[in-house]
Amino acid sequence: MADRRLMSDSGFRCMALIHDNPLRRIFDNPIKTLKAAGIQTGQQVLEVGCGPGFFTIAAAKLVGDNGFIHAIDLHPLAIKMVEEKLRKASLTNVKARIANAANTGLPAESIDLVLLFGVIHALPLEEVLPELYRVLRPGGAVVVQTFSGRSAGRTAKGGLFTFIGKEGRVFKFRKETSDYSGP
Ligand SMILES: C[S@@+](CC[C@H](N)C(=O)[O-])C[C@H]1O[C@@H](n2cnc3c(N)ncnc32)[C@H](O)[C@@H]1O
Repeated sequence: MADRRLMSDSGFRCMALIHDNPLRRIFDNPIKTLKAAGIQTGQQVLEVGCGPGFFTIAAAKLVGDNGFIHAIDLHPLAIKMVEEKLRKASLTNVKARIANAANTGLPAESIDLVLLFGVIHALPLEEVLPELYRVLRPGGAVVVQTFSGRSAGRTAKGGLFTFIGKEGRVFKFRKETSDYSGP
């Protein structure tokens, strides 16, 4: 039986036309947005709902050879499109795979930064936030890109993450632990 959470292939292709449109770069430059998110060379990054990979390639370049992007999406077409882009760009520091944000399969405390770009509205946060908390190292961050401050603010509900700032449409939250004393 088809997975009801998934868009049809044609629905996904329509979404991809909008989200991966070259014109989007005019008002949403991926490098600028990722820098606003605080991405750094050498980081392990989890990109949730990578879609057709509008941010994935830029993220891979920004983390460099010592960093890694774990790009996940529920939709098989997303993974196919990202893999095609990776081949064209000869990038090897990204693994794109089908996974649900509520069950990433990643080891505990293995991730520095989680990107929730254009996806928070679609996530069951009561299941997803504990999983993101599990995979993030102490002091790691969840960064949300959305038009709505109210929906971004849902990240802090439940007390696993603390809002630490906003730049444009990018809202940043830090995983807080009792023994964490970093910046
Ligand atoms: C609107 S697209 C955004 C794509 C990309 N992040 C961007 O900003 O261009 C949202 C994507 O999130 C995926 N998605 C939705 N729920 C998800 C979940 N629970 N786990 C992983 N991916 C999910 C969808 O399949 C879709 O590809």
